[in-house]
Amino acid sequence: MENKSVIHHAVLMLLFITWWENIYCNGLKVDPPEDIVVVDPGHLGHLEITWSPPSNLINMTQCQKRYQLEYFNTYQDSWTAIRTTQRSYSAQFDLMKDVRVRLYTVLSGACTNGTTVKSESYSELVQKPPSTGVVGTEVKDFSCVFYNMENMECKWKRNPKLSAAAQQNLYLWHKKLKRVEECPKYIISRGIRIGCNFSGKALPEFTDINLCLNGSSPHGSLKPTFISLQTQNQVKPGTTERLHLQTGPNAQLQIHWERPAGNVPAHCLEWEVEHDKEEPDGKTELKQILTKQTSLNLQLVHDSERNCVRVRSKVNKYCADSTFWSEWSRAICHPERKEPALEPEWDKVQVYICIAFATSAIVLLSLCVVTILKTRRSRDEKGPDSRHFSTLCLG
Ligand SMILES: *[C@@H]1O[C@H](CO)[C@@H](O)[C@H](O)[C@H]1NC(C)=O
Ligand SMILES: *[C@@H]1O[C@H](CO)[C@@H](O)[C@H](O)[C@H]1NC(C)=O
Ligand SMILES: *[C@@H]1O[C@H](CO)[C@@H](O)[C@H](O)[C@H]1NC(C)=O
Ligand SMILES: *[C@@H]1O[C@H](CO)[C@@H](O)[C@H](O)[C@H]1NC(C)=O
Repeated sequence: MENKSVIHHAVLMLLFITWWENIYCNGLKVDPPEDIVVVDPGHLGHLEITWSPPSNLINMTQCQKRYQLEYFNTYQDSWTAIRTTQRSYSAQFDLMKDVRVRLYTVLSGACTNGTTVKSESYSELVQKPPSTGVVGTEVKDFSCVFYNMENMECKWKRNPKLSAAAQQNLYLWHKKLKRVEECPKYIISRGIRIGCNFSGKALPEFTDINLCLNGSSPHGSLKPTFISLQTQNQVKPGTTERLHLQTGPNAQLQIHWERPAGNVPAHCLEWEVEHDKEEPDGKTELKQILTKQTSLNLQLVHDSERNCVRVRSKVNKYCADSTFWSEWSRAICHPERKEPALEPEWDKVQVYICIAFATSAIVLLSLCVVTILKTRRSRDEKGPDSRHFSTLCLG
């Protein structure tokens, strides 16, 4: 009982302090902004938020009015807050999810006696996504790759529930475009659209590229998918073509390579070298080495070991938030012994030889069986002389 009343008193005390602070320390209470409106100009998720100052503030001229805008960032799954003196703000939203916006008024200057006063409460707007489209028709695994910073391609997996008659369309928008544009060249597989090739169309970097994949089917319009990305985060560098290997002084193996042709700046690339070492006794060791340089020295331990290397590249963290690894280069070996590029053909030749050998063996065996049978039959008729024949065949 006593404990409860202590807590009770503490709570009352806190409430009193808060009230005191608001009334006497700051001397001022302020209301949150009014009339929040979220406008969709049709830019696939780039929405404009507008609001009005609280009506009881309009005549306060010696006050600096600012607004604290908080919106739920569905890409980061957290609230993002900004402060602005303007009465509008544009932000990127995922149109498949709720749009949630909160606004506070923030005052400072002479009217608040030099302190900063924020409204105790906020005004909030929650906008549900429009429930358009047949349920379960969303695409799966939408991904975009910016090959060598030259050509962007986006691909998607069609929902298996989708009828063959359904047609999908991809639209894009970014700040340099006045209005939404459709994919310039669809990638078609077995008569259906599975991707979009932007075919060298210049897409700006470090700005949101908004994409919308929607479409129609005999059962109605498809559920749209919205994606927002920045091109520099989707880069897959080209494959390294020129890779050189030579022995240097002090039993060193020197590897150097040239960056692939393309638009990825040299300082944005980092490399992974895969080193495959095979010792004479057959023991192998596989190592991956990360480097920022386009050369690497390896120390050889045995004279008779065989070393193979291949490289791949990606964009480093100073140039982008994410990246794709390039394909591996062709492997080169020291000593060369056999040309790795010829390996598959070698295998084919071997397979052909084996098949030819097996075929002739079967033919020969059948001939033998036939001959044996014939000989047996003729031996039964003539005598033991022909036994020599079958021995020859089986031997
Ligand atoms: C603001 O001032 C104008 C003229 O001085 C007055 O007519 C109006 O009622 C005032 N508004 C508020 C909200 O106090
Ligand atoms: C404003 O601040 C001054 C000095 O800090 C103080 O003397 C005065 O009482 C304050 N006025 C109000 C209205 O809070
Ligand atoms: C996309 O277009 C580029 C340039 O027109 C072409 O080189 C590339 O092969 C195309 N990709 C696909 C998957 O069609
Ligand atoms: C798909 O989106 C584009 C761009 O927003 C729009 O113009 C078009 O009408 C939509 N199509 C369907 C079938 O919803």
